[in-house]
Amino acid sequence: MVELTAWQHGFNRQVRVPGDKSLTHRAILFSAVAHGDMEIEGWLDAADTRSSLGLVQALGVQLVESSARRVVLRSSGLLEEPSAVIDCGNSGTTMRLATGLAAGVAGLVVLTGDESLVRRPMQRVIDPLAQLGVTVLSRGGGYAPLALRGGRHRGGQFVLPVASAQVKSALLLAGLSADEAVSVQEPTRSRDHTERMLKVMGASVNVAGLRTTVQPGRLNAIGFDVPGDPSAAAFWCALAAVAPDRVVTVPNLLFNPTRTGFFRVLQRMGSRLKWEEAGQVPEPWGTLTVSGMVQQAIVVEAAEIPAMVDEVPLLALLATQCEGTSVIGGAGELRVKESDRIRVTTEILRTMGAKIEEQPDGWVIEGPTPLHGAAVDGRGDHRMAMLAAVAATVARGHTQLTGEDSVRISYPRFFEQYWALKNGTSSRF
Ligand code: S3P
Repeated sequence: MVELTAWQHGFNRQVRVPGDKSLTHRAILFSAVAHGDMEIEGWLDAADTRSSLGLVQALGVQLVESSARRVVLRSSGLLEEPSAVIDCGNSGTTMRLATGLAAGVAGLVVLTGDESLVRRPMQRVIDPLAQLGVTVLSRGGGYAPLALRGGRHRGGQFVLPVASAQVKSALLLAGLSADEAVSVQEPTRSRDHTERMLKVMGASVNVAGLRTTVQPGRLNAIGFDVPGDPSAAAFWCALAAVAPDRVVTVPNLLFNPTRTGFFRVLQRMGSRLKWEEAGQVPEPWGTLTVSGMVQQAIVVEAAEIPAMVDEVPLLALLATQCEGTSVIGGAGELRVKESDRIRVTTEILRTMGAKIEEQPDGWVIEGPTPLHGAAVDGRGDHRMAMLAAVAATVARGHTQLTGEDSVRISYPRFFEQYWALKNGTSSRF
């Protein structure tokens, strides 16, 4: 448990965020099917990405170098049959993308995870992989543990019912080891890191509207600089926008438009954003400055969700401080993340005094409402713990947050930076 209190003063600070989680996972996982040394600079070193690191090592990849800044992985490009069950920990990205890799393994791959991961839906990858001819066994209802037997399998065409970058990526990876092309159409564009990275690594990838097609083939290892994680930066930007006199600047931030939906809504709520693009390769990146407190209530619809899926709960918090009724909908996917984030967000914010109503696919929030400190629980979900910590900065009195150690999943240094920002002391920002 950690005790948090309101921040009485404004600030104007630069905050460095760790390397992007999605890009780090992909660089690690794709190294397994690439020939040569994959050099990953500025990687996110956290529990989730370590799950991916363990997975590729179990598939025969050699860890050549590992430091706080850099990881080097060496592979022949051919996957080995692992000798034991692989634990994906809390990481949905590791497990779902691994099913796509397993499609190319001529042997048995068994995947499991922690108590949250074994409750997350896997049928969405099991069904299409089975259509390609991969054998997939699962626990009743389509849950992990999963047992896959791959090797040679066919290609195919898929239309996904939900926009999910994890499902899309699993199928594109399976396409690399198929006899023919695999193509995937999504209802709304989800993050496109897999398409971009596979192309740079030498795969034949074609993107036409919402349909992505990959041809079978081998990959070449590359050097990859990972820009900062927008999903991590969103916590500091929300912290700046939820109260007056707070300014935050995030350098070296990933600017990929399939990830920046949260910041666009922040602007709609009345906050001021300054984007300074610094480069385009391997992904667009630059410096973002957020100043000015949010004011207007918002309406958020389904089509906007994929570009900010992990950041949506922060909008609910911000809406508590805006004038009017905010309606956030089309976010039903949040119920099947590391926790049921619609329910847990409602629980945290309501306990702190917010006027928030839970809907099947989002919330209705009335504002502005002053928040007060309370005993809240992140329910083992890293993003819920960080949401509560940001809310506590504007809550009168004391907040007792349980489960704060879950930040190790995606942001191990979150509280170190939080305290340094609060106390005005310098950290390694
Ligand atoms: C991710 C995709 C998203 C996101 C997750 C990371 C990825 O999940 O919530 O944190 O790296 O592909 P879905 O694609 O299942 O929505």
